[in-house]
Amino acid sequence: MSLSRLNISGFRNITEAKLALSDGLNLIYGENGSGKTSILEAIFFLGMGRSFRSHLSQRVINTEQDNLTLFAEKQDDVLPCKIGLRRFRNGDIDVKINGDNIKRLSTLAETLPIQVITPESFSLLFEGPKSRRQFIDWGAFHCDSTFHQAWANTRRILKQRNQLLRNQSSYSNILFWDKELVRYAEQVTDIRNQYVDSLNALLKGIIGEFLPQVDIKVSFTRGWDSKTEYLQLLENQYPRDLASGYTSSGPHKADLRLRVGNLPVQDALSRGQLKLLVCALRIAQGMLLKQQLNKHSIYLVDDLPSELDAKHRQLLLKQLTATGAQIFVTAIDPSAIVDSLSSPPNRTFHVEQGKITVIE
Ligand SMILES: Nc1ncnc2c1ncn2[C@@H]1O[C@H](COP(=O)(O)OP(=O)(O)O)[C@@H](O)[C@H]1O
Ligand SMILES: [Mg+2]
Repeated sequence: MSLSRLNISGFRNITEAKLALSDGLNLIYGENGSGKTSILEAIFFLGMGRSFRSHLSQRVINTEQDNLTLFAEKQDDVLPCKIGLRRFRNGDIDVKINGDNIKRLSTLAETLPIQVITPESFSLLFEGPKSRRQFIDWGAFHCDSTFHQAWANTRRILKQRNQLLRNQSSYSNILFWDKELVRYAEQVTDIRNQYVDSLNALLKGIIGEFLPQVDIKVSFTRGWDSKTEYLQLLENQYPRDLASGYTSSGPHKADLRLRVGNLPVQDALSRGQLKLLVCALRIAQGMLLKQQLNKHSIYLVDDLPSELDAKHRQLLLKQLTATGAQIFVTAIDPSAIVDSLSSPPNRTFHVEQGKITVIE
């Protein structure tokens, strides 16, 4: 699966662009502030209905315009598919797939699986657990069609439970919700657990290529004590939860643990090594989706050369192209990419003040 055409209008500093894309490696280069990241952000926005840079969607709309419009043609083994998205300043969003209005953004995500690697995303992976949970859930969502609903139900019940806690409800009132919560929490946890297991099988090989000298262990923690049944734990923790007005344990606390020996990876690896580890995680995710559902992800790699020496740029580009997926990489200096490739990029774009030109 790949995007053959992409039209961008009113997105950041890109007022109007019509791009014919390659299904292989697309290189985007230009000076700082020219609009490179904005192109990747536009592709991501089309797949997710939001940005990876700002949670405030109106910030991405060009300051001179009242909406942003994105359009792409997706090529599959099956039929071509047209995806259109328009986002207005007041928050309204219109999404169309093949002319039909789409109500749920999750439909977009299913249509366009996207893997993004930016200089910021790799530090995030090693900060709070939220981004690591999102990482697991990206895979759980794509690989198991029941996950989305189970997780939505879990969050809805957690919200309800927290409200009851804040209203000082008795345990007998909360018990009804706890039983529901346990049901969905277990479903969510099983899917996540299985997903991390399957991912680990692929990850070993890729990490072995990128970081052969270090022994990295990746494991899943479900968000509550591994020895206690969740229903029992909810009862045990009721007094504490009542005091805080918040459910302290559960699938909303799940995490991905990444360790070298006894140390968290961020204490054991250099920044360059951390970047390679994030790349390995993302590549493994894409490969797993291809294996399980025969679906290709689109890879967006912003500022690929940063933090990496020549040898590792080469290694990363080799692994990315070996996935057979459509890839977009950005760099300030194109030679930092071109010199690391065995054959030239399939298409090269130059960006200057939001204007994008193809380099023949
Ligand atoms: N909503 C907006 N409207 C117009 N320009 C914007 C908006 N948001 C950001 N910009 C500008 O877009 C330019 C491109 O940014 P970016 O894509 O991050 O550049 P690059 O990745 O090439 O360094 C920046 O100069 C920024 O000031
Ligand atoms: Mg940038």
